[in-house]
Amino acid sequence: MARVSTLWFIIPRFALNLTRSESTTVPFTSKKVVTCCTNRKFSSTSPKLNKEKVTVYFVDSHGNKQTAKASVGNNLLDVVVENEIDIDGFGACEGTLACSTCHLIFKKKDFDKLPEKPSDEELDMLDLAYGLKETSRLGCQIVVTKDMDGLEVEIPGGVADARESS
Ligand code: FES
Repeated sequence: MARVSTLWFIIPRFALNLTRSESTTVPFTSKKVVTCCTNRKFSSTSPKLNKEKVTVYFVDSHGNKQTAKASVGNNLLDVVVENEIDIDGFGACEGTLACSTCHLIFKKKDFDKLPEKPSDEELDMLDLAYGLKETSRLGCQIVVTKDMDGLEVEIPGGVADARESS
């Protein structure tokens, strides 16, 4: 009895469902909880949102252009992955600002229109990027907006993974 009293203070929701007739081996299951949960619908996949899409072009150092449909709100790393754009070693740290392999070069006019300025962390990582230019940014930090339709970004001629330089 003293044990149940202790549980009452620690986990009162579960303690409410304990009765003396229930098995002592599985004390924390109750019909109340199961009934509650069977009425709810769970899904392991994320909901499909109808995001507006724009077209973004990725141009390599040989002038080869790859076309991507980019969902507004996604970053350019997501766009590369979702469209299976073939860029060697791109996005090695999966957007955690630790590698600089998602380095992209923007045209000056597009660079100036980017809504977000680079953070100090992005600038630090850009310093380690291959072929850095004044209009360089990290793709994982660039969120696609509606007015980016037709955007053309340059893929640098090489890749440097900042994690390998330390
Ligand atoms: S994916 Fe590594 S810094 Fe962008």
